[in-house]
Amino acid sequence: MNRENILNGQVALITGSSRGIGLAVARRLGQMGARISLCARKAADLENAAADLRAAGIQVLAAPADVTRADQVSGLVSETQRTLGPVDILVNNAGIGIFGPFHHQTDEDWNSVLETNLKSAFLTSRAVAPEMIRRKSGHIINISSLAGKSTFANAALYCASKWGLLGLTGCMAEELREHGIRVSAICPGSVATEFSPHAGKDPSRMLQPEDVAHAVAALVTQAPGSFISEIQIRPTQKP
Ligand SMILES: NC(=O)c1ccc[n+]([C@@H]2O[C@H](COP(=O)([O-])OP(=O)(O)OC[C@H]3O[C@@H](n4cnc5c(N)ncnc54)[C@H](OP(=O)(O)O)[C@@H]3O)[C@@H](O)[C@H]2O)c1
Repeated sequence: MNRENILNGQVALITGSSRGIGLAVARRLGQMGARISLCARKAADLENAAADLRAAGIQVLAAPADVTRADQVSGLVSETQRTLGPVDILVNNAGIGIFGPFHHQTDEDWNSVLETNLKSAFLTSRAVAPEMIRRKSGHIINISSLAGKSTFANAALYCASKWGLLGLTGCMAEELREHGIRVSAICPGSVATEFSPHAGKDPSRMLQPEDVAHAVAALVTQAPGSFISEIQIRPTQKP
């Protein structure tokens, strides 16, 4: 593996990193020299992902956690700090989609989508912010979506969560910038993962998880005097 080592000594916590975009981000930051804290709910999937990264020489903590639960988030952050060190980079990536006419959705659907895609970023960011403020540095990167910039039929809960995440991102960025902490959002279009069927789209022409990882790498290697607050990503050719 070609290690870049530009993040040597830094700790990156990536939520929803047992597969898809989160795993690609973890691999990329690990290749750049960061120590990686992986998290997802299913322990077996997480262990497989961790083994994959360790085989590439990356130092990994695999900590199963449900990021909608405040107690599990605080346990995850404490275990990361104890095992790897204070969190320098937090990537709020865990997300789910439930699609269909809004008037067919249940209270449980609303809670699942809003808690996984939006509340979780509040919980994790709240847990890492005090230590970042104390150290006067850090990156928080929230994976929103182009669905956070537009509206379309059968995506009310998902769009609401991703629009909300952009609002949360902007407010956190304003509060934390004076402490040297940069908060940014990435808004990808459709990415070829297990997230949803993406019916009618050619996966080879869709965005790949590595495209999002590339954007994360760009954000964490900015010069300290500025920050890119939002990145939108589209495939070069329409899938
Ligand atoms: N794929 C796309 O087209 C696309 C486009 C734009 C934005 N995004 C966003 O990108 C992010 C990642 O999507 P993806 O395509 O990589 O999805 P994915 O392949 O379905 O992976 C989702 C990851 O999140 C974890 N997860 C889900 N709920 C969780 C919870 N409550 N606590 C902890 N981990 C949880 C999953 O593991 P467990 O199930 O084991 O918990 C899995 O590791 C999401 O926020 C999504 O909205 C995706």
